[in-house]
Amino acid sequence: MPSSHPAFANVKVYDHPLIQHKLTIMRDKRTRHEQFRQLLNQIAGLMAYEVSRNLPVRAVDVETPVAIARGTQLAAPTTIVPILRAGLAMMDGFLALFPEAHVAHIGIYRDEKTAKPVTYYAKMPPDIARGPAIVVDPMLATGGSAVHAVDLLKNAGCTDIQMVVLVAAPEGINALRKAHPDLRIHAAAIDERLNERFYIVPGLGDAGDRIFGTA
Ligand code: PRP
Ligand code: URA
Repeated sequence: MPSSHPAFANVKVYDHPLIQHKLTIMRDKRTRHEQFRQLLNQIAGLMAYEVSRNLPVRAVDVETPVAIARGTQLAAPTTIVPILRAGLAMMDGFLALFPEAHVAHIGIYRDEKTAKPVTYYAKMPPDIARGPAIVVDPMLATGGSAVHAVDLLKNAGCTDIQMVVLVAAPEGINALRKAHPDLRIHAAAIDERLNERFYIVPGLGDAGDRIFGTA
């Protein structure tokens, strides 16, 4: 079970040994992009199970070969929201558990000098507001990209939003909490701080570059 962080009550930290083992391999600068990508998807899948614990459900009757059984189904379609590019590499892990989920793509990159978010794409399912939305992105650094993605979802009418990240910086958590105090955050690790180039320390470097081999 993930636990709430004592200093960041809105963040659940996933200290499961398997997740931490895989994350440690990902942090290693010698890890190649194919393994990096595979491990990220595996961690996403492990986190997806716990993230889905509080999804709204409804009771349904189903006819078994023997009798009527009272069952449970998810009450509304869940939308997974990868922030491009790096969030894409968490999608297989999530869709393995939510094969029927809808997907909303939000394209945001950080300006290299200012680290301010630049949005270049947004495509959402028309009924996105009906159900929960789960934003996925491996890195929460200044929080600019995440704050902006959640702004877009709220403007589209979403009221049940969670965010899943691999590594979070305290600066990003604080920015997100200030802008969206209602947002639940799930993280595999909370690192020390940002450096002068707004990279997470110790972090794992540029996630997008390490996933797609573009460094
Ligand atoms: C990375 C990461 C987040 C963002 C986090 O994306 O995947 O989206 O940085 O930083 P922030 O919290 O300071 O906004 P990047 O801008 O490198 O784009 P990319 O995924 O296209 O490489
Ligand atoms: N984006 C990344 O990919 N890595 C960081 O450390 C910060 C932002």
